Amino acid sequence: MSDPMMIVTSIEELRSARPLLDGPVGFVPTMGFLHAGHLALVRRAREECASVVVSIFVNPTQFGPNEDLDKYPRDLERDIRLLDEAGANLLWTPTPEEMYPPGYQTWVEVEGLTRPLEGAVRPGHFRGVTTVVTKLFNAVQPQKAYFGQKDAQQAAVIRRMTRDLNFPIEIVVCPTVREPDGLAMSSRNTYLNPQERQAAVVLYRALKTAQSAYEAGERDAAVLRRLMSEVIESEPLARLQYVSCADYDSLEELEQVSSKALLSMAVFIGKTRLIDNLVLE
Ligand code: PAF
Repeated sequence: MSDPMMIVTSIEELRSARPLLDGPVGFVPTMGFLHAGHLALVRRAREECASVVVSIFVNPTQFGPNEDLDKYPRDLERDIRLLDEAGANLLWTPTPEEMYPPGYQTWVEVEGLTRPLEGAVRPGHFRGVTTVVTKLFNAVQPQKAYFGQKDAQQAAVIRRMTRDLNFPIEIVVCPTVREPDGLAMSSRNTYLNPQERQAAVVLYRALKTAQSAYEAGERDAAVLRRLMSEVIESEPLARLQYVSCADYDSLEELEQVSSKALLSMAVFIGKTRLIDNLVLE
């Protein structure tokens, strides 16, 4: 039997526990309320690394003033059980007070890639993400770090930051894990009531509609965006925030799809904001 998972809270405790881990160390940063998508990241890290560190931290600086920081779902006991079963070696649950003590004033910002899509509608979001991920990377010092493709722009931004700041860390992006009907796994799915949960599958339907059109030869990005919008607008409980067909690397909106592209969208289902994406190879 493997050793039970160590659990630490302070940065000092983390720094004492870190040298006890065999390398290479794989790191899975999360905000907790874990689902099958997170556990797939832990399993992948388990396969590729000698030790796995997971952090759970609901990072206040990546939430806007009218977003869901206060009601973000939490269940630490359940998360601990799931992580232990999945074979994580060390869980770090830092506190907001230690991550952002009074007088905190240092930020990490990636420029161009954070402007469109989520960056355009969630000002400051990526500044919070890149700052906390830098702090987590500095403390954990992993050789590999695992992120989900579900947050495609976040993954691209973190890759860019890792290269630009010369972190000696390999960023591994793992496929989106979906419910049987196609809804992408997300901790926020828990906000949906049963009718909304049924309606939420419309994001995947819209993405698949555009993907099928692409596979049938459609290359006009405006047409692909329109097809996705029409599917979303056909669902009475859905309100489209944005829909995009962008270049996979620059995230700039395309006119024609001639190389790898990202179809993505943000949609409110009732009060719950969901995002999803598919890659056109
Ligand atoms: O994807 C998330 O859960 C968060 O944005 C992350 C990467 C843990 C940073 O808070």
